[in-house]
Amino acid sequence: MWSDKLKMVATTTKVYLLGFFFVLVIGFYSHRVVPRDRGDHDLNHQDTYNYFRRVLVSPGLQDYDYFYLALQWPPSLCNTPSNKCREDVKNFTYFTIHGLWPQKQNGRRFNCTSGTALNITKLRSDKNLLQRLDKYWPSLLVRKTNDEFWRHEWEKHGRCIGWDQNIYFKTAVNAYVTNNISTLVEEFAKHGIQKGGSYTIGNYTEAIQKILHVRSTIQSISNRINATLLFEIRLCVDKTGKNLTNCDLIAFPKWDDEISNVHFHSLIIIPNADLPVHH
Ligand SMILES: *[C@@H]1O[C@H](CO)[C@@H](O)[C@H](O)[C@H]1NC(C)=O
Ligand SMILES: *[C@@H]1O[C@H](CO)[C@@H](O)[C@H](O)[C@H]1NC(C)=O
Ligand SMILES: *[C@@H]1O[C@H](CO)[C@@H](O)[C@H](O)[C@H]1NC(C)=O
Ligand SMILES: *[C@@H]1O[C@H](CO)[C@@H](O)[C@H](O)[C@H]1NC(C)=O
Ligand SMILES: *[C@@H]1O[C@H](CO)[C@@H](O)[C@H](O)[C@H]1NC(C)=O
Ligand SMILES: *[C@@H]1O[C@H](CO)[C@@H](O)[C@H](O)[C@H]1NC(C)=O
Ligand SMILES: *[C@@H]1O[C@H](CO)[C@@H](O)[C@H](O)[C@H]1NC(C)=O
Repeated sequence: MWSDKLKMVATTTKVYLLGFFFVLVIGFYSHRVVPRDRGDHDLNHQDTYNYFRRVLVSPGLQDYDYFYLALQWPPSLCNTPSNKCREDVKNFTYFTIHGLWPQKQNGRRFNCTSGTALNITKLRSDKNLLQRLDKYWPSLLVRKTNDEFWRHEWEKHGRCIGWDQNIYFKTAVNAYVTNNISTLVEEFAKHGIQKGGSYTIGNYTEAIQKILHVRSTIQSISNRINATLLFEIRLCVDKTGKNLTNCDLIAFPKWDDEISNVHFHSLIIIPNADLPVHH
């Protein structure tokens, strides 16, 4: 009798211990931010903690509902009259980041006015981040260095939401990398959108819907000679900065196909090239 009872107690204890152990293990892993693919995302536990502390606890910060992730197409930017691009711009054969912009619902204007200036020393001290910023978030223009571009983006769009500046930049790059934006051009080709061709706004947004499973908006720009160029793609990212989502996009121009034949430029004209497009 007694020994049976003891056995039962012992078994129950074992089950409890095992359960406790499981909870520990699961707790440990669920605290980690598990990267979705390439292993070069470095949002670690401390970052996540800081992030939630800032977003949920800090008072006096500007509230926003989601972000726009704005992506620019280098050949188009570099073939418009007022933009002179740096010489290594030909190396950017993919969409690059323009910015990660906090937004209010219904496209209400969001002015980012509070917060601190960018600390470039601190940004440059994270070598891994810096390498990815140089690659995916370059200033393409001669008149603006990368540092100046990042400072502009932080001060115009980043500083007011209370995030640590390095986390803000990491978040943008992570959103870009986890969604394979650097191969978007190759994915476009699989959906019939070739560099050098002209397509409707709807053609682009449909392809993006198929590739990334979200709505998007396209901003075009005129080269002032003979073509409207695909200039920018805007996607929405949720408040955490982690996942693409659907949101109220301010359409440029409109949701419909108001502008047709938006040219998907293939050529980059480097500075000093003897072509009328450049000044
Ligand atoms: C651009 O790409 C070329 C060829 O891949 C490489 O040799 C060069 O170093 C790159 N330039 C810069 C500034 O990264
Ligand atoms: C945002 O800034 C613009 C331009 O400075 C101003 O016209 C507008 O009223 C501001 N909006 C808000 C909500 O503060
Ligand atoms: C900028 O960051 C560096 C390195 O993190 C730090 O030592 C320095 O005090 C910061 N400067 C300002 C003005 O906050
Ligand atoms: C990104 O590309 C990798 C490798 O090609 C793939 O495994 C992953 O599912 C892609 N991620 C997205 C969000 O498409
Ligand atoms: C672009 O849209 C037009 C009109 O909807 C359609 O006829 C055409 O097949 C589309 N092209 C591509 C490449 O999807
Ligand atoms: C615009 O003109 C240039 C130079 O004449 C030509 O090479 C290019 O193909 C034209 N682009 C379009 C979209 O018509
Ligand atoms: C983000 O996406 C991942 C993977 O699809 C999902 O597990 C997670 O719940 C999403 N997070 C949010 C905040 O929606």
